Amino acid sequence: MIATESSTATKPTTTFGTQLSPHMFIGRYSGGQWQTPEIMPYQNINIAPTNLALHYGQSVFEGMKAFRMKDGNVSVFRMKKHHERFNRTMERMCIPPLSYDYFANGIKELVALDESSVPAENGSSLYIRPFVFATDESFGVKVSDTYAFIIFTGPVAALYGKPVKVKVETEYTRAAEGGTGAVKCAGNYAAALYPTFLAKQDGYDQLLWTDSKNHEFIEESGTMNVMFVINDTLVTPALSGTILDGVTRSSLIQVAQDLGYRVQQRKISFHELIAASADGSLTEAFGAGTAAVISSISVINILGKDYTLPATDENSLSIKLRDQLEAIRRGDIADQHNWNTIVPANR
Ligand SMILES: Cc1ncc(COP(=O)(O)O)c(C=O)c1O
Repeated sequence: MIATESSTATKPTTTFGTQLSPHMFIGRYSGGQWQTPEIMPYQNINIAPTNLALHYGQSVFEGMKAFRMKDGNVSVFRMKKHHERFNRTMERMCIPPLSYDYFANGIKELVALDESSVPAENGSSLYIRPFVFATDESFGVKVSDTYAFIIFTGPVAALYGKPVKVKVETEYTRAAEGGTGAVKCAGNYAAALYPTFLAKQDGYDQLLWTDSKNHEFIEESGTMNVMFVINDTLVTPALSGTILDGVTRSSLIQVAQDLGYRVQQRKISFHELIAASADGSLTEAFGAGTAAVISSISVINILGKDYTLPATDENSLSIKLRDQLEAIRRGDIADQHNWNTIVPANR
């Protein structure tokens, strides 16, 4: 079991996902409704060997963040959008929905209780992991009648690591039309592990998935949407039903538009990337997701050839967008789209 944070510690370690806050939230579904939830010290839970989620994958999750604001309070980022996506995922996995209040009050209470785990350094945050899984005990394939909804949190440091090298995947498929690519179900991540493992053996950090039919159009990366700057325009694959509607993606699009940049959501073929790299119009590529916020891409491997991108600096659009988003979350500038849910500090 990974260590839980002492309530006085606010300095997260640099390895993502290794520190926990002291408490967790648990709500159970039985008899056709979500029961009164409770908050308890973080602890192990009992799972029967016949637990349906372990065998047939009725297991879904969200990944969210809370930030220490400059006035000392805490802001939880885009709670409504995460809740909507959680319910879309649950519907696709045949799991009963959660009301906004059940979801949001659970997060607010937990964050308030473990508020001292929210770090303050620039780029750091409290990661929030709500998840739901089937709890029926049966080894026949069926829709579970009972579920557990758990939330735990943990401080995470800024992940402004070195730029990543990505490989365009043209053999394996992450998601096909009509499948589950647009939702956050556990099985999507398991299915991505082996192709990603192969790419790592070849020296790449992540994959850029492509469409399942032609393996030509760029979709997204492991746990990030992908964005490019081509001819000074922010370009990102349109939501096609096979990629996740990322909260960071949607926020960066909005921030870019607010700052007056051109944004295009459309199909992007790897042939376009090759041409734009050759004529110099492709100036930036980056992943966008809750965990890393923005992860610069330095190399894109397409059909065995590496295409190298220029290094980013403070004039790069990706860095401007990252800093603007951070400023909104920390209350340094106005939250004009009402993205922050404020949890007052326990002073
Ligand atoms: C497959 C996938 N795509 C994109 C993202 C980025 O989404 P978000 O910005 O909501 O974290 C994630 C992370 O949640 C993901 O798992």
